[in-house]
Amino acid sequence: MAKGLGSGELRIGIAGLGTVGVGVLRLLTENQVEISARTGGALRVTAVSARDATRDRGVDLSVLAFEADAAALAARDDVDVLVEVIGGTSGAGADAVMAALRAGKAVVTANKALVAERGAELAALVAEHGGALYFEAAVAGGIPAIKGLREGLAANRVKSVAGILNGTCNFILTKMRAERRAFDDVLAEAQALGYAEADPSFDIDGVDAAHKLAILSAVAFGGVPDFGAIDLRGIRDVTLEDIEMAAEFDFSLKLLGVAKPRVGGPGVRQYVAPVMVPLDNPIASVEDSFNAVVVQADPVDEIMMRGRGAGEGPTASAVVADIIDFARGINPPLFGHSTPVAASGAASGEGAAEERRFWRLLVDDRPGVIAEVSQVLSEQGLSVEKILQTDADGSRAHIFILTHAAPRSIADKVASALDGLSCMVEQPAVYSIED
Ligand code: NAP
Ligand code: HSE
Repeated sequence: MAKGLGSGELRIGIAGLGTVGVGVLRLLTENQVEISARTGGALRVTAVSARDATRDRGVDLSVLAFEADAAALAARDDVDVLVEVIGGTSGAGADAVMAALRAGKAVVTANKALVAERGAELAALVAEHGGALYFEAAVAGGIPAIKGLREGLAANRVKSVAGILNGTCNFILTKMRAERRAFDDVLAEAQALGYAEADPSFDIDGVDAAHKLAILSAVAFGGVPDFGAIDLRGIRDVTLEDIEMAAEFDFSLKLLGVAKPRVGGPGVRQYVAPVMVPLDNPIASVEDSFNAVVVQADPVDEIMMRGRGAGEGPTASAVVADIIDFARGINPPLFGHSTPVAASGAASGEGAAEERRFWRLLVDDRPGVIAEVSQVLSEQGLSVEKILQTDADGSRAHIFILTHAAPRSIADKVASALDGLSCMVEQPAVYSIED
């Protein structure tokens, strides 16, 4: 079994010297005094790995050994803990993690893709070889969400876990609304600030949030992450009209990840989608690159943790906290419990509660259009709470509709019937209201 600060010194190898790797090096140096006082010994980085050995990264690497091969770094005798901050479900980062775990070492990773998609394999390696795996930085950046759920709420029965889990998307949605800027322009800023993934489509298509949700859900409800069971929709199709009209209807548009027991069935329903959050819900005011994780549980009731979800400092904070946990000999069960998450095998949307919905229709602006739309809603028995029409470009109009709570099956029929109307210029956009 991997041990903590046995000899009074913990030797660390860092695989990856990008945003997070450099942040970890800086934090271990800048807060060295506090960290030593809290662990009772020294945490010393002995070796690092990256693709480019010569690039100036703004930190002193001169006394550290350099390994071009991250798996070789994991195998070094002077590395007790591997910090893996390369990323990816396969390749150098994943290989280094597997090598370290096979050697019975401790691994601290920020790699949510790896934990979410290969969590069962990692758990098996930990169990077989007696190593340890820590992944606080994989979920919600600097927020201690894993620790909060797995340790702080260990006595509770979790009813739901939900959150803003992607800093890049929250940054984009916030800036588009506040500064009326174009999607691509704000995405470029998020990339420059180090928030986005190497491939930013992981952020904007909701994959990154789904990786984090899979991990959170496993910790909240038991078993291993089940990434394949998540209903997934990103923010690529969100328009400025949607964001601005959300506010008119007293909502804020947020990309949320939600996991909760299926209504009327076994298992956990997990989804990532842009949804409308009522403005009086505290999560509606979580802006910029901030993340939030909301847990409803019995008997604690509701807890919301909010903090920076991406970037060098917040992510390094979570990585170093994990290293400190290992140094202190704290090693809780990997995903909290052993009951499997029975989330897979259900059809998309199955087990969803009835929901209010927000609709955006782009129609030809001619007499009788509202009547045609109303007829579809009436035929399907979907009742309107609020409706608003605005001019789109002189010959076309936007119709925004808030509908009362109804099952997903009704909403699907309405969407398909509306799409078939001759006045409809494009497929209707529909957002759930997260009441
Ligand atoms: P990054 O800035 O792109 O850095 C990746 C690092 O990995 C680079 O230093 C790169 O080396 C190195 N690398 C790539 N391929 C390698 C190989 N074959 N061998 C050795 N090193 C290799 O990424 P990041 O933003 O720091 O993210 C790292 C991990 O943390 C990812 O799993 C990410 O999902 C996760 N994460 C990131 C954040 C964030 O805010 N950025 C937050 C939470 C979690 P070179 O520099 O030489 O190219
Ligand atoms: N790309 C991720 C985000 C980094 O924007 O949230 C933090 O995990």
